[in-house]
Amino acid sequence: MTVAVIVTAAGSGTRLGHALPKAFVPLAGEPLLVHALRGASAAADHLIVTAPAAHLATARALAEPFGAVVVAGGGTRQASVAAGLAAVPDEADVVLVHDAARALTPSGLFADVVAAVRSGCGGVVPGLAVVDTVKEVEPAVDGGPERVLRTPDRARLRAVQTPQGFDRALLERAHAAAPEGSASDDAGLVEALGEDVWVVPGSELALKITIAGDLEIAERWVSARVEGS
Ligand code: CTP
Ligand code: MG
Repeated sequence: MTVAVIVTAAGSGTRLGHALPKAFVPLAGEPLLVHALRGASAAADHLIVTAPAAHLATARALAEPFGAVVVAGGGTRQASVAAGLAAVPDEADVVLVHDAARALTPSGLFADVVAAVRSGCGGVVPGLAVVDTVKEVEPAVDGGPERVLRTPDRARLRAVQTPQGFDRALLERAHAAAPEGSASDDAGLVEALGEDVWVVPGSELALKITIAGDLEIAERWVSARVEGS
């Protein structure tokens, strides 16, 4: 099996609020994208990065040491993944999609996802048990409180992460069938086809860096890693 990993890095990082697009924001002195590529590289025969169209040269300079190909992303994450998929070499039969924002994802998690795809699971996501009780609500009327519709059994909920891994043909079929912006992750598009998706244990370290506080948490993890080594 030949594995391609698409690292999605074309977002702007609005919630992080940094002057640079999120993938270029430094964490312990290196851009998030570099951390993400380091984590992904052992599992990948081919690396593809989706970058903001206005920042392709910067992304290429960062990706070059990893042998990664850089393509322009789209206006949504789904469009960016589709652009990345179009650049996956013919020989790849397994595709992983990974958020650059999950910069400290351990290489072992990539290996676990690849192993599950190899074992015959066509769609694989890492997931963690949910600590909070989660309510499904209906949209608020006029900014008032939101009415609770139901409380799913927490024991059966998983907060899912990336890398998400797929049989290449299945992921291509899912993207081809998906309306623009129809799912917040790739597994959702596969589920929409009626195909099975499987959950393997995720990692706390695969935290998606979204707000400034997340970057501070990640900085502490890197310091602890350096001190512990
Ligand atoms: N992403 C992408 N193309 C987009 C939007 C997002 O490739 N058009 C990528 C981001 O770069 C990120 C991942 O998808 O690695 C997850 O998205 P998110 O964490 O929401 O990042 P941003 O969209 O950049 O952040 P924000 O929503 O705060 O603007
Ligand atoms: Mg976003």
